[in-house]
Amino acid sequence: MFSQGAIVSLVLTLTLVTAAIEKRPLCEDNYPSKPYGCISDTVGVAMCISKDQICDGLTDCGDGSDEQDCDYSKWYGTAGGNCPAPNQNASGAGGMAVLGPQFNEAHNYFRCLHGAQNMTYDVLLQEGDAKDAADNSAAAGTPTHTHSGENLALVQISASKTTGFGITKLWYDEVKDYNYDDPSKSTGTVGHFTQVVWNSSTSLGCNFAVGINGNTHFACEYRPPGNVKGQIQDNVFRPIDEGESR
Ligand SMILES: *[C@@H]1O[C@H](CO)[C@@H](O)[C@H](O)[C@H]1NC(C)=O
Ligand SMILES: *[C@@H]1O[C@H](CO)[C@@H](O)[C@H](O)[C@H]1NC(C)=O
Ligand SMILES: *[C@@H]1O[C@H](CO)[C@@H](O)[C@H](O)[C@H]1NC(C)=O
Repeated sequence: MFSQGAIVSLVLTLTLVTAAIEKRPLCEDNYPSKPYGCISDTVGVAMCISKDQICDGLTDCGDGSDEQDCDYSKWYGTAGGNCPAPNQNASGAGGMAVLGPQFNEAHNYFRCLHGAQNMTYDVLLQEGDAKDAADNSAAAGTPTHTHSGENLALVQISASKTTGFGITKLWYDEVKDYNYDDPSKSTGTVGHFTQVVWNSSTSLGCNFAVGINGNTHFACEYRPPGNVKGQIQDNVFRPIDEGESR
């Protein structure tokens, strides 16, 4: 439920475990259409990824093909077409130099779908508050809220397997539970979604820290902070074209 408290603390714990990659002769026999097969390593052998690994925000295919064309246009009609979906090939192995612009692009994509203004990326916020929040979470071993205007995520994989789009998508996908007519009647946690598309948040900075067991703790900071009591209807907009219902 969307809490009507002052500024809401938001923590999302995700147990994202990469599904085992099946290794079979000729992927096409098992997953007939692309991009379900990727990385031909040996003649006649390919790494086949399962359907639920497509567009999961993790770069399972070395060429990024599993993370291309991951747009929302089938849900959002022309809005999807007007807001070009990110194709984030490069993995987080490049660190924040790669992930920072990816987070920015992903947020602006989702915000575009809802008619919210772009955010600009703030490297000082990345190196300051976002780093603190990620470090605090990693030290505690659990997402640990540090500032107002903050989304956190714990993933049980290395940052090198993630993209900025993938992490942002985990938060955004709460949209399915959001009730535009009465946010208090939303059917699940929606505060990460509302922060992602909160119109009056204009600066973004994200970072991550490695915790125990190879877990990765992500934090994004939003300024001015969103999820302010009484301001939700003025900041969270219906998609500019809802397309088919999901
Ligand atoms: C993704 O990377 C592959 C291989 O490097 C390249 O062929 C493809 O054009 C890239 N796609 C995008 C959208 O950048
Ligand atoms: C908004 O951001 C997106 C992606 O970061 C960019 O492609 C687009 O040109 C921006 N739009 C405006 C109006 O600045
Ligand atoms: C979003 O915020 C900008 C800047 O304050 C404002 O110009 C714009 O009208 C807002 N969008 C909507 C749909 O209210």
